[in-house]
Formats: sequence, C-alpha cells, structure tokens
Amino acid sequence: MGGEFYKVWGAALIALTVALAIGIGINEVTHSEHLEENAYKVNVPEGGAPTAAVAEKKVIEPITPLLASADVAAGEKAFKRCATCHSFEKGGPNKVGPNLYNVVGNQVGTVPGFAYSNALKAKGGQWGYDQLNAFLAKPKEWVPGTKMNFAGIKKSQDRANLIAFLRQHADTPLPIPGQ
Ligand code: HEC
Repeated sequence: MGGEFYKVWGAALIALTVALAIGIGINEVTHSEHLEENAYKVNVPEGGAPTAAVAEKKVIEPITPLLASADVAAGEKAFKRCATCHSFEKGGPNKVGPNLYNVVGNQVGTVPGFAYSNALKAKGGQWGYDQLNAFLAKPKEWVPGTKMNFAGIKKSQDRANLIAFLRQHADTPLPIPGQ
C-alpha cells in the first residue's frame, strides 16, 4: 500500500488544488465582470441628458417666416374672435377696442377718438410684425395693464394668418421683410 496511498492522495490534492484554482479564477472573472457592469451603470446619466424644451416653451416663435405662406382667408375667419371688440374696415367705428384699419405699421395707441389704457400709451413704438406677434400671443404679458381683455392666440400660424389679413386692410400694406 504505502506508495499507492500517497499517489492517490497526491492526485486527489492536485485535483482539489486545480478545482480551487479554477473556482477562484471563475470567481474573479465574474467578480470583475460585476465591477465592470457597475462602473458602466454609474457612468450612464439617469433619465438621459436634460432637454431645453421647458425653457423654449416661453419663447414666442417669430412669425415673419410664416407670413409669406400665410392664409389670409383663414385670417379673416380668425378675426371673428376679435370682431366683438374691433372693426377692421376703413372708417369703421371704434368699439370696445379701436378700429384696426391701417394698424399694421401704425404707431401704437394712436387711433383718433379711442381712450387707450395708460399702459398701451406708455408702450409706444410701432405695430411692426414682431410687436403684433408678441402682443397677440399674450396681450397681458406684452403690455401689462392693457385693457384688451383677450387671452391670446397660441398657434404661430394662426397669428401669422390673422396679421396677414390685417396687413391687407391698410392704405399701403407694410412690406413683409425679405420679400
Ligand atoms: C374683449 C375685447 C377685445 C377683443 C376680443 C380683442 N381686442 Fe384688441 N383691443 C381691445 C381693447 C380694449 C384695446 C385697447 C387696449 C388698451 O388701450 O390697453 C385693444 C387694442 C388692440 C390693438 C392695439 C391697437 C392700437 O391702436 O394700438 C390691436 C392691434 C388689437 N387690439 C388687436 C386685436 C386682435 C387682432 C384681436 C383678435 C385676435 C383682438 N384685438 C381682440 C379689445 C379687444
């Protein structure tokens, strides 16, 4: 026996050592894979990169690029929302609001015989396309204290159509920039 015994034990020990070595090896591999995975996860920003959508919402889209293709007939229809308070024909009466003939390009708050708010009179300047666009988007934000009781027109194309319609009701329609 003797020698055989040690041979068997030797073989068993070698087998055990190899098995342990493999075991440790496997452990290390899976362990390092875990680490890699974790490290990778940490590097990924959660919820993706922040977008500027919230900040952009408040900015009023410029309408001059939309004016060229504006739909005047749609603008005339949209004017029904204004017609309770405004006339647009030449020589039309002031109602709750002033007559809007010639308004595009006109000085702000200067229609004869209309009692404007101090806020609008103080605003001054000219009703250019940008000013009308900003005013019609949110009247009370552009002229705080205005007595025009109107929430505003949300869609840029709707404002463009309406302004294109108003523009035609003038002795000399204000040129559209870039045309
Ligand atoms: C509820 C009545 C009312 C409605 C609806 C209304 N407005 Fe007015 N609007 C007014 C009044 C009142 C003023 C004078 C504001 C002031 O003096 O602060 C005014 C002023 C204006 C002015 C300035 C005119 C100037 O001579 O400086 C413009 C432009 C205008 N409105 C356009 C419109 C358009 C376009 C619409 C429709 C989308 C509209 N308004 C809807 C009552 C109204």
